[in-house]
Amino acid sequence: MEEAKALFLFFFFFFIVAASSLPANSAGNGSDASDVLAKDADFIDELPNQPESTDFRQYSGYLVAEPVSNRRFFYYFVEAEDIRPLSKPLIIYIGAPSVDNLASALLSCFQQVGPYTVGDDGQTLIPNPFSWNKFANILFIEGPVGVGFSLSDNDQDIYETQEYWIISDMYHFIVRWMKRFPEHKNNDVYIAGQSYIGVLGPGLATYILYMNSRPDNTPISIRGILMGNPKMDRDLEFITRFESKFRMNIISEEIVADHRKLCDVKKPEDFLICWKAVAESQRLVLALDDNNVYSKFCPNIDIKSAAMAKGVRVLIYSGVQDDENVIPNMIVIKSMNLTISSEWRPWFDNKVEVAGFVESYVGGLTYATVRATGIKVMIDQPERGFILAKSFITNSSLPFTKFV
Ligand SMILES: *[C@@H]1O[C@H](CO)[C@@H](O)[C@H](O)[C@H]1NC(C)=O
Ligand SMILES: *[C@@H]1O[C@H](CO)[C@@H](O)[C@H](O)[C@H]1NC(C)=O
Ligand SMILES: *[C@@H]1O[C@H](CO)[C@@H](O)[C@H](O)[C@H]1NC(C)=O
Repeated sequence: MEEAKALFLFFFFFFIVAASSLPANSAGNGSDASDVLAKDADFIDELPNQPESTDFRQYSGYLVAEPVSNRRFFYYFVEAEDIRPLSKPLIIYIGAPSVDNLASALLSCFQQVGPYTVGDDGQTLIPNPFSWNKFANILFIEGPVGVGFSLSDNDQDIYETQEYWIISDMYHFIVRWMKRFPEHKNNDVYIAGQSYIGVLGPGLATYILYMNSRPDNTPISIRGILMGNPKMDRDLEFITRFESKFRMNIISEEIVADHRKLCDVKKPEDFLICWKAVAESQRLVLALDDNNVYSKFCPNIDIKSAAMAKGVRVLIYSGVQDDENVIPNMIVIKSMNLTISSEWRPWFDNKVEVAGFVESYVGGLTYATVRATGIKVMIDQPERGFILAKSFITNSSLPFTKFV
């Protein structure tokens, strides 16, 4: 089933490129005139096997993020399902360099937050009642190079995992995209994603705020960051990453005790020693590969001192069965020393049971848990994910009671 869906994405991609009058490697030359032409070329009449009566426009194509290596990101843009799409904000949904399939923004789109999901036959598109384009315009960016369909003339670029370059490419991509879609250049912008978004989201928001402050740049109206099961603080998460597994009875008390003893270190160079010791003593191979993509950014500091201080709101949500992130997420938030503005309480969808719990902090950070899901919140609990994202974007409280 998953394979069929992944195949669909390739089909989708070739359809888009074939339908576009511009070849994939000539992504506009930067002039306003060429951008207008390129936007028309990016317009999608309809997707293969798309349900009839679609009330929103869709676009897709490439834009150059970095001209020297000709790094270009693939994007898919869906307008809000509204008579006046510009009355709705713009969500920029970004992918990430990562080993898991949550990395691709397009996969997230067709599995979770976009207007269609792919049927089990791998071909039919099914309208998604929980699509985020019911309350926002969504720009899905496949990037950095090496993720999804994004390309570069320099083969080495797929190994590029320096956050600075990724963030700078993303920023330049967004600036170029806004030239192609100038009607959105003053729109409220939210950055969203999962997992590695914990590093890229705060980093990109901070970078946007910095670039906004420089002369000659058209400011991007960054308003918020939505982060699902994010990786945020390498040190703290490394120390606490077995706690969730332990509390979920996935690993034994001995393993977690070893980990606590050996891994309470602050120096990155000691991580490997700690990890090896744990692995050898327990003969367990747990997937820790994703640690190597962390490096310089300190997202929790970016969040507090840069983003929130400038009025950028933040939503962090985690599925309670996520055996890696749920406890570290809470610990990282606590380490930011924020003042609680609204105490830990249950929130609801239209079912009898509690959908999750939520706490808010002065300065605009909200932390919410989602019950009956792990890392794939939007797949397992799409309605809960929809309510979370919509409440956040509209700056309203999560439901206090069951609603109908
Ligand atoms: C870019 O493309 C446009 C439209 O095709 C053309 O008019 C313009 O001269 C080109 N500009 C550059 C700098 O090549
Ligand atoms: C939180 O408070 C502790 C103890 O006062 C301090 O060491 C730490 O640096 C603070 N963290 C932040 C992000 O302000
Ligand atoms: C969001 O809502 C809170 C609480 O009602 C309010 O204090 C804050 O100013 C609002 N923020 C924005 C950007 O509207």
